[in-house]
Amino acid sequence: MAWSNANDRLLKERARRVIPNGMYGHESTARLPEVYPQFFRRSEGAYLWDTDNNKYIDFMCAFGPNLFGYRHKEIERAAAAQRERGDSMTGPSEIMVDLAETLVDLVTHAQWCIFGKNGTDATTLAATIARAHTKRRKILVATGSYHGAAPWCTPSPNGVTAEDKANLIGHDYNNVESLVAAARVASHDLAAILVTPFRHEVFREQFLADARYAVTAREICDVSGALLIVDDVRAGFRIARDCSWATLGVQPDLSCWGKCLANGYPLSAVLGNDLTRDAAGCVFTTGSFWFQAVPMAAAIRTLQLIRDTNYLENLVSAGTLLREGLDKQATRYGFELSQTGPVQMPQILFADDPDFRLGYAWASECLQRGVYFHPYHNMFLSTAHTEAVITEALCISEEAFAALRQRRAHLASPAQLAGLPLPPRTRSSNRAA
Ligand SMILES: Cc1ncc(COP(=O)(O)O)c(C=O)c1O
Repeated sequence: MAWSNANDRLLKERARRVIPNGMYGHESTARLPEVYPQFFRRSEGAYLWDTDNNKYIDFMCAFGPNLFGYRHKEIERAAAAQRERGDSMTGPSEIMVDLAETLVDLVTHAQWCIFGKNGTDATTLAATIARAHTKRRKILVATGSYHGAAPWCTPSPNGVTAEDKANLIGHDYNNVESLVAAARVASHDLAAILVTPFRHEVFREQFLADARYAVTAREICDVSGALLIVDDVRAGFRIARDCSWATLGVQPDLSCWGKCLANGYPLSAVLGNDLTRDAAGCVFTTGSFWFQAVPMAAAIRTLQLIRDTNYLENLVSAGTLLREGLDKQATRYGFELSQTGPVQMPQILFADDPDFRLGYAWASECLQRGVYFHPYHNMFLSTAHTEAVITEALCISEEAFAALRQRRAHLASPAQLAGLPLPPRTRSSNRAA
């Protein structure tokens, strides 16, 4: 069946009347090529169907939550069994204790957990616990890093007061001198350093954290009594079966989790060490839906799969197959890609494409043939991205490169990016892929 988007266009029109801008947040397609569907009807394994019944191999995995494939049978069975017993109740289910024990066993630095719903719940709570523990205010963050959508961390200036952000001090990610200087500015008021495990900003090449940066962050905290918080909401369990910075030999005091923790069911967590237990116990934190038992049952099964299967090794081989395949195709058709970040969380940009015209056109060609790549946000693989699925995706991407070569001379700058301050993209920013 030929690709069409009549239903989606109609839905976007209806949505604009009853939802501000038709959609909000990074799930809005406003900055994506026009052909990208805003709404979906169904998902299964590595596949998504939009409201026009177009089927896509989905490389976004719901922006991360889908780690074992959409509607994974065993996880769904665990969730369904719990749904029969109860979900939101007057207090938590007994399985909350099982889940906390499972996480504490799996994550080296963790000796306790508190659960929430979204990643923003986790980062906000971790910052609060750090302030309760230290009785200090300042938190060091890398300028441009995303930690959620609450007023203290949202990337948008709208509706936010200077006071909301007054206690954040920026520094350049991976730049030890900048980190040390920021700590000096915070001085005796330093409560925490909050970092993502690697640099994963939109519209840019990704890069990994240097061990020296991670070790320095740990040392600053040890010397000053501040807490080290790793925000593993996006990368958690796609880098390690542990906190992502365990791979660098650095253990945080607190870590933040969300997204894939329950393979798509709403659940997030803050994990902490014994040093932070009293502070975690003294802050007031809760939410009406934070104790839902169904997501917790899904999380227990998800964590068992994380612990007991080769899921991570499989993600890495699928990601490597995709990266190498795309690189070869690009070269064959006269293009150069800039593929960065861990292969299981790939960022796929075109080199020498400052206004993203090549990337946007290629992604559109892929989309209309049945592969959902994102032209400016990092992507995510799941275990449903088997060798067969990657091969299927590569057949389609090859056709897209061929079509792009034909259109190359006639491409215009994407209108939806007009006025956006795009970061300068140079080869030298493509570090530590
Ligand atoms: C690193 C990081 N921290 C925090 C968040 C916020 O998570 P949520 O959107 O679930 O509130 C995100 C979401 O993308 C994230 O990538």
